[in-house]
Amino acid sequence: MGKILVTGGTGFIGSHTCIALLCAGYNIVVSDNLSRSSVESLARIQMITGTSPRFYNADVRDEAAMEQIFLDHEIDCVIHFAGLKAVSESVAMPLNYYNNNVYGTLQLLNVMNKATCKRIIFSSSATVYGGNASAPYNEDSPIEAVNPYGQTKVMTEQILRDICISDPEWSVAALRYFNPAGAHESGLLGEAPFGTPSNLFPRLAIAALSRKNVMHIYGTDYSTPDGTAVRDYIHVMDVAEGHVAALKKYSEKQNGFRTFNLGTGNGHSVYEVIHTYEEICGKKLQLHKEPRRCGDTAVSFAEVSRAKKELLWTAKADLRKMCEDSWRFASRNPRGF
Ligand code: WQD
Repeated sequence: MGKILVTGGTGFIGSHTCIALLCAGYNIVVSDNLSRSSVESLARIQMITGTSPRFYNADVRDEAAMEQIFLDHEIDCVIHFAGLKAVSESVAMPLNYYNNNVYGTLQLLNVMNKATCKRIIFSSSATVYGGNASAPYNEDSPIEAVNPYGQTKVMTEQILRDICISDPEWSVAALRYFNPAGAHESGLLGEAPFGTPSNLFPRLAIAALSRKNVMHIYGTDYSTPDGTAVRDYIHVMDVAEGHVAALKKYSEKQNGFRTFNLGTGNGHSVYEVIHTYEEICGKKLQLHKEPRRCGDTAVSFAEVSRAKKELLWTAKADLRKMCEDSWRFASRNPRGF
């Protein structure tokens, strides 16, 4: 059995997926340009699994560096996480996002094609569903990204569809994540974003660790039960196991292009998440109501029957477990790593 190349493998979802792959007995190689993550992730993976994966400090846009990986190793399948993922940042810096996420994937696919490695699992996103259609979103819901980050995922999915039409030897599983959250239960690995994160969970961790405990709530006037936005938060280890399931049940068995939602099928409001987090961390946060955030939608959650039926995968962790694991990591790594 050949190896699995995990691009962006020192990042939040990539590093947790490395753990799931190693625990499932796969032989992995990791590449990352370390622009938004740290090699410390590899040390934590080693502490958790006993294995320190072969690592290449390489940008997917660097053709020579990526070709070297395929010269050094027999790669059976690529799990492609490398890319930028902050919605608000993508609005401010669209060229950077199209360069990293779209051009980067094109470079990677060219190298894979030359190496006749034609199996890829792609890190897509629920942001492809835009916000006009109503939730729950299934894989055939209208595609209407409303920000450059979501557009990079729409464009890349189209590129992957076209490759599969042109060459039936290609196998592509595009996994559309809803809202990954939480951390590995060891407390050794979690979401350690560089700079100031925009996502709710890492912002909660910062608020709980800080002296003032201030938490901003963006929008309390949505047409939802408590006025705050609803999202489908899914434990990062459930997302990781979804990649192992896609490898086993799709990439190793079928060709062609297929999308799969990775979500729980349940929505939770911002207030619900905040109150659960307060219970877990034992702190009362100072809540500041703010106007809605540009680009936010009211409600987003997944219809999850396709992954259940075809990948034999469902998410297992509930919101409380996500908050427990997130807080354990944050409180043990107050300055991230
Ligand atoms: C959730 C809700 C905020 C912070 C993210 C990623 C995107 C994609 C999907 C992977 C919103 C509110 C947030 C805060 C708040 N992931 N919020 N106070 O916007 O759904 O998108 O998940 O592809 O990459 O950006 O998640 O966690 O940013 O926000 O009130 O301090 O929490 O307004 O309603 P979002 P989020």
